[in-house]
Amino acid sequence: MQDDSFISIRDVSKHFGDVHAVDQVSIDIAKGEFFSLLGPSGCGKTTLLRMLAGFEFPTFGEIFIDGQPMSSVAANHRPVNMVFQSYAIFPHLSVSQNIGYGLRNDKLSKAEMEFKVDEMLELIKLQGYGDRQSTQLSGGERQRVALARALIKRPKVLLLDEPLGALDKQLREQMQLELRALQRSVGITFVFVTHDQEEALTMSDRIAVMSEGKYLQIDTPNQLYEAPQNRKVADFIGTVNFFNARTESVAGGKVSMDAGPLGKLSAAPGKLEFSEGQNVLIAIRPEKFSISIEKPASGNAIEGTTDAAAYLGDRSHFYVRVNGVDKPVAVSAQNMDRTHDVTQTHQGQVWLSWEDDAMVILHED
Ligand SMILES: Nc1ncnc2c1ncn2[C@@H]1O[C@H](COP(=O)(O)OP(=O)(O)OP(=O)(O)O)[C@@H](O)[C@H]1O
Ligand SMILES: [Mg+2]
Repeated sequence: MQDDSFISIRDVSKHFGDVHAVDQVSIDIAKGEFFSLLGPSGCGKTTLLRMLAGFEFPTFGEIFIDGQPMSSVAANHRPVNMVFQSYAIFPHLSVSQNIGYGLRNDKLSKAEMEFKVDEMLELIKLQGYGDRQSTQLSGGERQRVALARALIKRPKVLLLDEPLGALDKQLREQMQLELRALQRSVGITFVFVTHDQEEALTMSDRIAVMSEGKYLQIDTPNQLYEAPQNRKVADFIGTVNFFNARTESVAGGKVSMDAGPLGKLSAAPGKLEFSEGQNVLIAIRPEKFSISIEKPASGNAIEGTTDAAAYLGDRSHFYVRVNGVDKPVAVSAQNMDRTHDVTQTHQGQVWLSWEDDAMVILHED
């Protein structure tokens, strides 16, 4: 267990018959961290969250929260609370009654209860809404009530299973920022499940990218995007171009490669290890390319033909065909200049150029 870990998931597996929903996962989450589980449908996100909540128990492995093993601790005795995707609030209760529901057995005076509920209403910016019926709320407001209801007990950990899934895009983006601000202000550890990569990137301190019951990489949003450690992560987070190459020498913090149509290239190996004569993949994000009509004077460059171009206001997207490369290369260029229409100019023959540090070398797998 790491010293600062508040939640420690140790070699945890969950089997449902033949289905290995979660497969030997170890994750340490720090106190106050906003930690996300990101991955496609069926990869085990909810199952892992339900084991933290105590609604499921691991087939193998152990979960520690605040240093305590959870194997014999029932859901209602854990220092956690869970917010579900279908914001479960009681339709027959008012907003205040919903928020205060978890305190009903705590033997508080009416004034104490009102104080705590008001505090929550303020936090979720619904002051004055206490007496409304919950059926008179918008989707986003209902979601905030569900959050307040989970937060009022001041759990040490809040587990959120796609809590914004039912909201439309605009509301969802607004709620992402609000939820993040709220998490900072209360300092509770959040474990947040989503299959939306943009949502995970926006909100999280760290993200575990999951696939088929395992995680592929745990890292900060920046590192997942800039330094993915395998093909699946690079592909899952954002858009990426892959090129085949073969290593020629590995020395002095540089890997020299023969990348066929892209020529001889050289880049730093990052955290992965490479040997000579190995088939590898080079990953380059669309915005790391510069696109120009004239051949650049020096550096890595390749000629191609623009297949398609799309003007998106702040930037333009190009798909550039390069001889010897299977798929058109995706390129994204910022439209810095107000009057210059890059999309028009760059139809036809173009040059793509990139820096050495734009390349991430990956194992072929
Ligand atoms: N109670 C259960 N009995 C049998 N199989 C289950 C059970 N719960 C989950 N599974 C299976 O375990 C796997 C992981 O399910 P889980 O609900 O954790 O996925 P998820 O990542 O949350 O997916 P989604 O994004 O669709 O919610 C799936 O193959 C699912 O069918
Ligand atoms: Mg799920």
